[in-house]
Amino acid sequence: MASARKKAAEAMAAIDVVIEVTDARLPEASSNPMIAELRRFRSRPCLKLLNKSDLADPAATKAWMEFYNRQPGVRAVAISAKNAAEAARVPALCRQLAPHRDDGTKPLRMMIMGIPNVGKSTLMNALLKRKVAKVGDEPAVTKHQQTLDLGPGMTLTDTPGMMWPKIDYDADGYMLAASHAIGRNAVIDEEVAAFLGEILIARYRPLLAARYRLEPATLAGFDGPALVEAVGRRRGCLVKGGGLDLEKAAQILLQDYRDGVLGRISLETPQTRMQMIAAADAARAAAQDPDAAGEDGG
Ligand code: G4P
Repeated sequence: MASARKKAAEAMAAIDVVIEVTDARLPEASSNPMIAELRRFRSRPCLKLLNKSDLADPAATKAWMEFYNRQPGVRAVAISAKNAAEAARVPALCRQLAPHRDDGTKPLRMMIMGIPNVGKSTLMNALLKRKVAKVGDEPAVTKHQQTLDLGPGMTLTDTPGMMWPKIDYDADGYMLAASHAIGRNAVIDEEVAAFLGEILIARYRPLLAARYRLEPATLAGFDGPALVEAVGRRRGCLVKGGGLDLEKAAQILLQDYRDGVLGRISLETPQTRMQMIAAADAARAAAQDPDAAGEDGG
């Protein structure tokens, strides 16, 4: 991590625009804070790509774009890197962010950054119109970065997917695990599915009702674990002896979400994120000073 960070910091000095790829379904949770820190330090503008927008809730994506487009030096765009025409817009968007490089003599130097599995390689391949070998994600980094020519007067540097050492909020860990950016075997599927279930019940009940043929009114009374159980019953996930196989049920719900078959679902919006952070910070403060929390509570 430290070495990848050092390499990224060095590379940042020699580029004009950072292309940060995030997952449109969880744009903040899938944004490594180190990227913003490094690019601000070097005053580099950022094209923030909310990728996989084909899987995200369009209303949430719109809210996120407004949120990011208010930030200085940031231009946010929702794309699906799997769609060649959408990916092809990226160089022109970068050019707009670095007008000083547009004099016909200096190449426009772009660098792709982002955590694992957000679609960096898919974007690279679409831009280069050929398959490029992955630079490798942390911790098993094989190559640190590669710079490729992207037609006349443009270069593109690819960096390894980098996670940060400590994720501040549990909800971010769960969102990353639900979207499969982290946690293959690291996080228990049942816990992740229950977390995802809470969001689906709160915000996407009609999609759940349609997929699993459940009554919306029944769903309203469910919590995350109850939803996982209901999915297990619907899909006949049984262990020997007849009990429910909750792990299997959790995997079905997670896979349906990851494949987009439930519908277009975002795990966070600017508003839910603000609420999540306020609640987590209040819980932390209460844990540190239980007396004060008791007094506040009445
Ligand atoms: P990375 O380099 O950032 O690690 O990501 P990569 O391009 O390898 O993409 C990760 C997965 O996300 C791939 O699926 C890829 O097809 C998918 N993906 C990338 N961009 C988009 C997009 O705009 N829309 C959708 N729907 N999917 C996208 P995969 O190989 O099947 O892997 P996985 O999903 O099974 O992990």
